[in-house]
Amino acid sequence: MNFTSIQNIDFLDKWVKQALKIKKKPLKNKKLGKNKTLVMLFFNSSLRTRLSTQKAAINLGMNVMVMNFGSEGWTLEYEDGAIMNQGASEHIKEAAAVVSQYADIIAIRAFAGLTDKEKDNAETVLSGFLKHATVPIVNMESATGHPLQSLADAITMAEHKTQHRPKVVLTWAPHPRALPQAVPNSFVEMMQLQDADFVITHPEGYELNPKITKDSKIEYDQDKAFENADFIYAKNWSNYKEYGQITNSDPNWTVTADKMKLTNNAKFMHCLPVRRNVIVTDEVIDSENSIVIEQANNRTYAAQVVLQKILKNGK
Ligand code: CP
Repeated sequence: MNFTSIQNIDFLDKWVKQALKIKKKPLKNKKLGKNKTLVMLFFNSSLRTRLSTQKAAINLGMNVMVMNFGSEGWTLEYEDGAIMNQGASEHIKEAAAVVSQYADIIAIRAFAGLTDKEKDNAETVLSGFLKHATVPIVNMESATGHPLQSLADAITMAEHKTQHRPKVVLTWAPHPRALPQAVPNSFVEMMQLQDADFVITHPEGYELNPKITKDSKIEYDQDKAFENADFIYAKNWSNYKEYGQITNSDPNWTVTADKMKLTNNAKFMHCLPVRRNVIVTDEVIDSENSIVIEQANNRTYAAQVVLQKILKNGK
């Protein structure tokens, strides 16, 4: 069993309930991972994903090996039949097969490059490991998805569930750097598995991949979107049409206390790291309605439910 996408979740409700059960007794399955090794490969930086996934593996009794592949590994070639007389030193065929000798599960973080849409949509790194590794693969954020984050988001929303069908708003917010669409993509896919009034709000032109958003509601007026919302999920992403570009940096999209007043006393969510007073004001993120730290805490239980299922089911 691999965990590379929200589509790998058969019953979201069930996974969320299992994660909440794990959260109550995180060491209950301490023997499940005995003598098993998780190898975590990072092609990009991380705080939460690295520590929470490692913590989840430790809770299951696993050994963990971490490698910052982006800075410490050989540069990899991904193309079949390539004549390797340029920069790449090692082919993914050998690299994935070799890491599989040391690992029972391989977890990978490899972001979108944001220069070549086709290449990013092909998930070159993740697909390469899926093709050539011989052990299960876990996605710790790839070019187009961050399913461990969205599973943690679902767990967090379940802990704060409303008496009524909740209104959940994914809002774009400005950012000085071009960021991938992975987090919003997986959040949208996760919300499509929930019974909720789900609305995406962003400036015109910032539409996510329509193959992902499908018929999810898009509202270009952020104030209108915020009306009566129970959850505000803020995130920046770069332009998908004008791929990887920043075509808008309007500070009017920052989540402020005035905007939060339009909501139904909504909880504020963000996957972190967050740029304070750019994405969201201090007043909002420091308010009692902000659940970003609990959200980060739930990353451990999202990872643990995934690792636990893989350890039980195998490849
Ligand atoms: N949200 C998240 O994935 O955090 P890191 O990038 O710090 O792992």
